[in-house]
Amino acid sequence: MQRVFIEEIAKYQGQEVLLRGWLVGRRSKGKIHFLQLRDGSGFIQATAFKGELTEEDFELADHLPQETSLEAWGVVRADSRAPGGFELALRGLKVVARPSQEYPITPKEHGVDFLMDHRHLYLRHRRAWAVLRVRDEIERAIHDFFHQRGFLRLDAPILTPNAVEGTTDLFEVDLFDGEKAYLSQSGQLYAEAGAMAFGKVYTFGPTFRAERSKTRRHLLEFWMVEPEVAFMTHAENLALQEELVAYLAGRVLEEKKLELEMLERDTTVLQTTAQGHFPRITYTQAVERINRLAQEKPELGLAPLAWGDDFGAPHEAALTLGFDRPVFVEKYPAAIKAFYMQPDPEDPRLVLNADLLAPEGVGEIIGGSERIHDPELLRQKIREHNLPEAVFDWYMDLRLYGTVPHAGFGLGLERTVRWICGIEHIREAIPFPRMYTRMRP
Ligand code: 4AD
Ligand code: MG
Repeated sequence: MQRVFIEEIAKYQGQEVLLRGWLVGRRSKGKIHFLQLRDGSGFIQATAFKGELTEEDFELADHLPQETSLEAWGVVRADSRAPGGFELALRGLKVVARPSQEYPITPKEHGVDFLMDHRHLYLRHRRAWAVLRVRDEIERAIHDFFHQRGFLRLDAPILTPNAVEGTTDLFEVDLFDGEKAYLSQSGQLYAEAGAMAFGKVYTFGPTFRAERSKTRRHLLEFWMVEPEVAFMTHAENLALQEELVAYLAGRVLEEKKLELEMLERDTTVLQTTAQGHFPRITYTQAVERINRLAQEKPELGLAPLAWGDDFGAPHEAALTLGFDRPVFVEKYPAAIKAFYMQPDPEDPRLVLNADLLAPEGVGEIIGGSERIHDPELLRQKIREHNLPEAVFDWYMDLRLYGTVPHAGFGLGLERTVRWICGIEHIREAIPFPRMYTRMRP
């Protein structure tokens, strides 16, 4: 008898196969027992009819506790009512291990905190299974996208001597003899060095922000993909971002249909997103839009903005209303953005940057910009931002030896997974979330 995985069970219709996995749950109707099984690759119902397996196995099928590990064999049958389209007509069972205590996550409703305290077990459940398989698809799609376009993957360090995105949310690490380092907020500065060596690179790794916030979109540790390209302009930067996000939406729609169904995701916006053509508005237009909305729709409870203010989460959410796909907000005031951003030649109060806001009220998933390539201007900005010049000497070298215009961006993996899966909270978009209020398990 062949051992197969649930994922590929369709190929074995009518044949007797062996599954290895776990018991998710069961119910009984007298002469029939229904066992919900999973094997990591999927979920399936095994149906035990009295008489089709030995008396002992039939009894066993009615008494196994949740999360028993087992081998089950039987005949693969098409069943249009089954979620995967197939079920197993059980012929026999063998227990590998019975749980030594009652499994804590029962089919009854549990609070989110309880489930996240048991994340090491909660990973086994349908919802986590669907979300984390979408995450895996997105990660692979990111690598495919960049490799198909001639990018080199460059691994940035995690222990770093300098801040990238402002100094307020740095995690400090004690090195030796009183020396300090920080956990990387972004691989960008290293990606810039890589772009000057390899032309087109991307970094993809964990990044850290010490945010004392309990929001649905902030993690302390999150994964970011950061492409950086020599000679790339602001306009080309937006085009690359649009192409990437359209590709990711398309890949998930194509490859993860079952998972999106399990999450009951309405895929309308994913379909429009996959077509590209993301609208673009400027920061200045965005402020006008928000202030108009604040007046016309007081029920949104939006605080009006002055030109120069940064957006809060509710502002970003409001900005996405009325768009059926992600929207770029470009050219922010330099004063509210990072030190390395290239000024807009048409208005030096502004920078050549953009945030990409995901629709459905989700908000920012990408931040990116053209970088300052002029050494004198960069030196001036480092001083204006009160950053220690000495630790940026290597970054300055990139401007001293054959400097060229260049640009890049950072896409937050968990924010993207959260949006594509249509889930409320970012904590479910990563296997083991690290948050202000959660360090365990
Ligand atoms: O906008 P951010 O801070 O940009 C940068 O770090 C640039 N250095 C990127 C670059 O140009 N190479 O962060 C980029 C993205 C955000 O758009 C968001 O998706 C994600 O990283 N992000 C977070 N995700 C989860 N939790 C947090 N605390 C995040 N902070 C940023
Ligand atoms: Mg940002």
